[in-house]
Amino acid sequence: MIGVLLLLFFLPLLLYIAAPQIRKMLSSGVCTSTVQLPGKVAVVTGANTGIGKETAKELAQRGARVYLACRDVQKGELVAREIQTVTGNQEVLVKKLDLADTKSIRAFAKGFLAEEKHLHILINNAGVMMCPYSKTADGFEMHMGVNHLGHFLLTLLLLEKLKESAPSRIVNVSSFAHHLGRIHFHNLQGEKFYSAGLAYCHSKLANILFTRELARRLKGSSVTTYSVHPGTVNSELVRHSSVMRWMWRLFSFFIKTPQQGAQTSLYCALTEGLESLSGNHFSDCHVAWVSAKARNETIARRLWDVSCDLLGIPVD
Ligand SMILES: NC(=O)c1ccc[n+]([C@@H]2O[C@H](COP(=O)([O-])OP(=O)(O)OC[C@H]3O[C@@H](n4cnc5c(N)ncnc54)[C@H](OP(=O)(O)O)[C@@H]3O)[C@@H](O)[C@H]2O)c1
Repeated sequence: MIGVLLLLFFLPLLLYIAAPQIRKMLSSGVCTSTVQLPGKVAVVTGANTGIGKETAKELAQRGARVYLACRDVQKGELVAREIQTVTGNQEVLVKKLDLADTKSIRAFAKGFLAEEKHLHILINNAGVMMCPYSKTADGFEMHMGVNHLGHFLLTLLLLEKLKESAPSRIVNVSSFAHHLGRIHFHNLQGEKFYSAGLAYCHSKLANILFTRELARRLKGSSVTTYSVHPGTVNSELVRHSSVMRWMWRLFSFFIKTPQQGAQTSLYCALTEGLESLSGNHFSDCHVAWVSAKARNETIARRLWDVSCDLLGIPVD
């Protein structure tokens, strides 16, 4: 009995003391590339917080001109100042991008293309999770609209610039949650049935399918693309779910910091010799296994065509 009581008393204490080591173990995968980026241009979506902010900071640290593509320009400006101060790189710029509105995406792309001669790295990082049912300005279900369709449109609008700037890379931040995802073509906008948790999973599956189909289409162009699971990361992503917020708080000692969560995106954006792995999915800086659905080329091609239709882009 005394043993059990002692265990109950000491176990939380031991866990608390061991937490940094446990977190280190769970967050293997560090981008060890020493590539520097003077003269290179990068765009990071959702760069005002979380994983995107840390990704942008590291790209700026390496000398790139970095565009923080944020829906809240004020928040973005504060982060830009912070990154400029920390890295000494003044070329950290903020541009308005609301992925829940195709007009905003088109305006972002138009402004960027008019202003910049090159684009070497596009990190499609922004994301929403477990939103109550809602729609984007164009009537798309919010997860599918922001996480997939918004980035799909942005990428296609910037693709010529990426090709002109090649070698260049596109990183799509997906999730392990894609394993629970399905592409319900008959219910893409969640009108027939909706689950906030599953809607996130579906959109993250769409990120991987998009990456694979994009890689197929880009073969031979020197533009390569990768999808990424960043790990379980202590960020604002759980803002829409009080249960998840509570769990994240409880386990915050053990889950990755945003800086650790940025490592696989950075690995895919920077590591030399990764080109032959274009289209693959990465986790902890290694190629990772994806679900059977995520490997289905027929679904990937159909999703591409349907996405083009929804966005009014001619299907080729
Ligand atoms: N955290 C994890 O454990 C985890 C696990 C797997 C995958 N991921 C993925 O990692 C990526 C980054 O997430 P995070 O964890 O860093 O979450 P976060 O801290 O919530 O950051 C998400 C970013 O996306 C932006 N965003 C949301 N809606 C947008 C819109 N309509 N237009 C433009 N930007 C928008 C947010 O801007 P505001 O600040 O203005 O809202 C924020 O900058 C996401 O794609 C997420 O799915 C995260």
